[in-house]
Amino acid sequence: MTHSDFSGSRLLSPLAEPVQVSWQSPSNIALVKYWGKTGQQLPLNPSLSMTLSEAYTETILSALPRETEGPVELGFWFEGLPHASFGNRMTKFLETVTEIFPWLQQVNLKLETHNTFPHSAGIASSASAFSALALCLCSLDAVLCGILLDEDEFRFKASYIARLGSGSACRSVYPGFTVWGAARAVPGFSDLAAVPVTEVHRDFKSLKDTIIIVSRNEKPVSSSDGHKRMKGHPFAEARIKQAVNNTAELLEAIKTGDKQTFIRIVENEAFTLHALMMTSEDGFMLMQPETVRIISRIQELRKETGLDICFTLDAGPNIHLLYFADQSEQVRKLIVEELLKNNEQNLRIDDYCGSGPVKIT
Ligand code: PMV
Repeated sequence: MTHSDFSGSRLLSPLAEPVQVSWQSPSNIALVKYWGKTGQQLPLNPSLSMTLSEAYTETILSALPRETEGPVELGFWFEGLPHASFGNRMTKFLETVTEIFPWLQQVNLKLETHNTFPHSAGIASSASAFSALALCLCSLDAVLCGILLDEDEFRFKASYIARLGSGSACRSVYPGFTVWGAARAVPGFSDLAAVPVTEVHRDFKSLKDTIIIVSRNEKPVSSSDGHKRMKGHPFAEARIKQAVNNTAELLEAIKTGDKQTFIRIVENEAFTLHALMMTSEDGFMLMQPETVRIISRIQELRKETGLDICFTLDAGPNIHLLYFADQSEQVRKLIVEELLKNNEQNLRIDDYCGSGPVKIT
């Protein structure tokens, strides 16, 4: 399958009336990490994520009548205000998908978006933003050109489009757990778009994620720069093998409800991501002293209390603490009394395994 398999249609006559669609789409947290890319936003290794619930982007995309055809014309509004730099990124992205949505050059576009979570809080806003936009584009395509797809095809196409904007965004178009990347050990997965994990043990369906904010400062190295440093990384080959194995093992753990394997792999993946950053040629570190303190405390508390808790990290210093619904009361107590104690930010976001994007009518 290539880009041209998704090639779409032009409008047969100019648009007479504005048409508007809207989606809300959540962020996701990777449990097996995507790190390093190749080709056009293809992943070096497979990844597996959990779609969140409370942390989402709400996007309204409007197609407006336009007199002459030409390059993409976008008005971009973030949290109710025009935003030039986000708008430029979105315009560039839309220019890469005009072969799939040729009508993008026949209408004026207005994109209005807002997030339910604060900026730089350790939640991937590009994942929720690009998945919401991709879903809006596929819905507008249906309205403007009568492109009718069944539910699976619609999601796969939206995931493919979201990937072109931000790799991890392709996983956010599905509820629950999602895999992106041709995990060689497990058939049925693709580098082009994510697919949902269908076999999930009941304990994992209500998995909780409390994000403990350590810092809200801008990261010294962005994810896109980080991905580039996997080129020629001395451990790249071993990493790809490890991610393939971890994906297969984690899928089995999620299916059977094996919490100990889950904890082992999730923490191994978080440490690996940050180790890859530190050991790249132009090495860098995103963890902070407070990150290390909290991680160490989580590991100690697991031993001391026997609770099934573990941490993961995104490309930043903030901590995602994962735990199960039946232990959530005890874990929340520990978060307040132990993990947030003396923490300067004293800020957390309680989220959980979500039911996926919602179309707003
Ligand atoms: O989607 P990007 O390009 O922002 O990269 C995301 C990379 C990680 O968040 C570190 C891992 C992942 O799989 O989400």
